[in-house]
Amino acid sequence: MTTPSLDALWMPFTANRAFKRAPRLLVSAHGMHYRDADGRSVLDATSGLWCVNAGHTRAPIVEAIQRTAATLDYAPGFSMGHPAAFELAERLAGIAPGPLDRVFFTNSGSEAVDTALKIVLAYHAARGDSARRRFVGRVRGYHGVGFGGISVGGIENNRRPFASHLLPFTDAQLPATHGLAENLFSRGQPVHGAHLADALEAIVAEHGGETIAAVIVEPMAGSAGVLVPPVGYLERLRALCDRHGILLVFDEVITGFGRLGAAFGAQRFGVTPDLLTIAKGVTNGAVPMGAVLMPRALHETVLDAATGGIEFFHGYTYSGHPLACAAALATLDVYRDEQLFERAAMLAPLWETAVHALRGAPHVTDIRNLGLVAGIELAARPGAAGARGAAVMAECFANGLLVRVTGDIVALSPPLIVTEEQIHEIVTGVRHALQRVADAEVAAR
Ligand SMILES: Cc1ncc(COP(=O)(O)O)c(C=O)c1O
Repeated sequence: MTTPSLDALWMPFTANRAFKRAPRLLVSAHGMHYRDADGRSVLDATSGLWCVNAGHTRAPIVEAIQRTAATLDYAPGFSMGHPAAFELAERLAGIAPGPLDRVFFTNSGSEAVDTALKIVLAYHAARGDSARRRFVGRVRGYHGVGFGGISVGGIENNRRPFASHLLPFTDAQLPATHGLAENLFSRGQPVHGAHLADALEAIVAEHGGETIAAVIVEPMAGSAGVLVPPVGYLERLRALCDRHGILLVFDEVITGFGRLGAAFGAQRFGVTPDLLTIAKGVTNGAVPMGAVLMPRALHETVLDAATGGIEFFHGYTYSGHPLACAAALATLDVYRDEQLFERAAMLAPLWETAVHALRGAPHVTDIRNLGLVAGIELAARPGAAGARGAAVMAECFANGLLVRVTGDIVALSPPLIVTEEQIHEIVTGVRHALQRVADAEVAAR
């Protein structure tokens, strides 16, 4: 196949110059595998980018998109509607935790987060409590790349270049739930660290609980390198938010749709947030879509406070796009019919044993897992943070395995259809890559 010129495209979150020197181009996908431009099969250990939970190019999803593209290519969502958007909202409400049965559609996780922050402010304003305008995020939190998302996010490289333009009232952050030496090589939720939620009390003491609108966290941080919440941590955060009248937002863009062995992390952990953001797995990654879920009471408070006409001045041209709705409805059918959330829960113990067998492999300093996710942390090369992780990723790909790295952390999150054999293939591939990278470093000395 002829390769197009790579010059014109500015690639997202990519070392562009390095990529264009050694491009990795994917040209097709099916089930658990990609095929690259050289015709090689690549086992997908990352569900694309944490989104293809049902595996690639699943026929029911493809057909639903094709049918809809030929029937209703687009319908405006402002003061107009189409049936599938309403049907999808109802279906999502049906699998959402507890009372979260109202849905606002967006096109990405970043938009879902920005929308959730606006809904929080609208809700407090509707109750006459506009003094609540502070958002509390968490160190190493990832909430996308909108100005709202980076303001409440805690990944320094994403914030620093825009530091002077972050949203006001977003400077208080909870500490990351990670880094306690006692939790190294934890299996499932680490035992230590529930007390880290108490940092919210210090923020309340400094700023006043009555000024805090919401706390936003990922129930399990994915993008920052798989940071699993300690036992009791989310429960304590929930209790503290309740004590001070603060809304709790779970960003479930990664943890939604079976990744942790339940529909949402909220159900996996038994902690219900006030708002919940989704994206990625809602359409199996096939069409961009995101959403915010919230309880009826919150939604009605905002509607009731409106003086007439439009109640909430917010929305996107493509909110509830027909192709996204069709993809999502078909995706939810696949998840249900193949019991993929249950399958993730069933495979989780085997997955845990398999990934922890990498303990002792070259440079591995920590391994952690939950559901069908694992983070394998490597010691950084002196003076070259991220270089070893990048080398391992490149080595895996060269040998037909797609993994994701964040700095020097290898993150694994295969589609929920992964087989036991493929789990072993993934772990073996990572082990070999770690060894080859280590050998190459020794040879280069
Ligand atoms: C927790 C979380 N929130 C938000 C986002 C942003 O989603 P998107 O890239 O669709 O804007 C991501 C993406 O990885 C995410 O993991």
